[in-house]
Amino acid sequence: MNVWNVENEEDITALERQLREPAAVLSQGGLVAFPTETVYGLGADATNESAVRGIFAAKSRPADNPLIVHIADVEMLPCVIANPAQLPAPARKAMNVFWPGPLTLILPANEQIAPSVRPGTDTVGVRMPDHAVARTLIRLAGCPVAAPSANKSGKPSPTTAGDVLEDMEGVIDGVVDGGSCDVGVESTVVAIEEEYAVIYRPGGVTKEQLEEALAIPVSLDPHLTSPTQAPKAPGMKYRHYAPNASVHVWWGEDGAVRRALATFCDAHNGESLAAIVPSGWADFVPGADPAWSAPPEIPYAVALSRELYRLLRHFDRAGARHVLIVGVPPHGMGAAVMNRLQKASEGRLYHV
Ligand code: TXA
Ligand code: MG
Repeated sequence: MNVWNVENEEDITALERQLREPAAVLSQGGLVAFPTETVYGLGADATNESAVRGIFAAKSRPADNPLIVHIADVEMLPCVIANPAQLPAPARKAMNVFWPGPLTLILPANEQIAPSVRPGTDTVGVRMPDHAVARTLIRLAGCPVAAPSANKSGKPSPTTAGDVLEDMEGVIDGVVDGGSCDVGVESTVVAIEEEYAVIYRPGGVTKEQLEEALAIPVSLDPHLTSPTQAPKAPGMKYRHYAPNASVHVWWGEDGAVRRALATFCDAHNGESLAAIVPSGWADFVPGADPAWSAPPEIPYAVALSRELYRLLRHFDRAGARHVLIVGVPPHGMGAAVMNRLQKASEGRLYHV
């Protein structure tokens, strides 16, 4: 399997030279994993049905779960969506403000997009990633690129090329190694109409940022606040993002969270525990090893989002039985990571 190393992203000529081969593999119907600002994607030509089916096979992904289509520039938009001239004004605004970036728009699909990209729907999710490697690769391939996260279905998303290899070695044509992903959780998936917008999956762009930029009401898919409702993004119904270890999350008042951690550590003394805590909190998880504490210089919610998937994979390799995590309030920057933790913990998420 190919690993294409990318060095010196700023030099566009060098970048094009390094990406020529994986781009050719993509345009010939192959499967290539590549970095984005959120997580690594597993790409295929979005107009090539048999290539797209290869993604589902490689991931063991349920066939009813649609894929996000990635574009290099707005010039590619007309081959992904139907009627680009009739875009709702707030959708156009969202593209101007948040692209390139971690925002996926659900829009009416162009017929050229392979049926397996959009099972059971005439819409398509489209986004322009904020990553020079991703956009140059797509531009050289010359086609829109369908790409879910490059993990086996149900496992934490990959944020390094090594994570991709762990799941996909020998199953895909190759991976472009562009280092680790900056955001660490996936894009926000949103449907935007003239008068309102609905978030299907919280992600790297917050509800508050959308409300401010679009000046229309932005609501959450009812599934996100009441899990008995069917989600509008089919992917949200699956047990997701889960490591082998049991994940336990506490958030709320500092003293109460610390007491809960101490009680858990006491009750599980001698078992293999791992932990993710804010800067300076390592003493509150006695016996946890490895215990990762966030760096002090960035907000804890940002550090937690960036490192969560990488740490969950690392703790699995270390054989952890329980992973203890200090959570954050579930709004603003915290909404996406707490949504992923809700799933990873299978409900063992406590507000104290
Ligand atoms: O940040 C990201 O979005 C990453 C990187 C690689 O771009 N991709 C990603 O893809 O997270 P994936 O397949 O793991 O998640 C796509 C989500 C799923 O929940 C899927 O159901 C939803 O988006 N989705 C895609 N197209 C849709 C559509 N037409 N209607 C409703 N939901 C859609
Ligand atoms: Mg995924």
